[in-house]
Amino acid sequence: MATISAVSALVPRLEGKVALITGAARGLGESIARMFARHGAKVVIADILDDLGQSVCEDMGLEVASFIHCDMSIESDTKNAVNATVDKHRKLDIMVNNAGILDSPKPSIIDNDASDFERVIKVNLTVLVGDFSSNGLR
Ligand SMILES: NC(=O)c1ccc[n+]([C@@H]2O[C@H](COP(=O)([O-])OP(=O)(O)OC[C@H]3O[C@@H](n4cnc5c(N)ncnc54)[C@H](O)[C@@H]3O)[C@@H](O)[C@H]2O)c1
Repeated sequence: MATISAVSALVPRLEGKVALITGAARGLGESIARMFARHGAKVVIADILDDLGQSVCEDMGLEVASFIHCDMSIESDTKNAVNATVDKHRKLDIMVNNAGILDSPKPSIIDNDASDFERVIKVNLTVLVGDFSSNGLR
């Protein structure tokens, strides 16, 4: 059994696939991006940390990874990320809605602010939605 899983870990399982991953400039998203690339996928990292995201792509190799600025709380950013990925690669196979934030800790419940709450909800629950109308793929 161990031999089978060791072999399957070496066999590229995402050859030819294109993946768009949010929040992949660091943390779990970065690990997902690196794992996908190791399995043969081209990855697009979408994040608000431009410098970090770009340097992760450079480290991975610009032939396999590219960066796009995308704030998941801004709908036009999410559409732009999808469209830019499809424009670049002419397809999109996998979308990983990984980006997520925590609200800053408040000492008292009455310090909670509606706009902070709404931002957390937006970033954590907004999903990338395909908008392929402008690039001729639909
Ligand atoms: N780390 C854990 O133990 C754990 C456990 C359960 C779930 N998760 C979830 O996994 C995901 C990743 O967690 P992590 O620990 O790697 O977090 P992290 O904070 O290390 O990374 C989050 C990434 O999301 C990006 N991001 C933040 N706001 C964004 C926005 N508005 N638009 C686009 N990108 C944005 C950040 O810049 C960062 O690169 C989160 O959704 C988190 O809730 C993590």
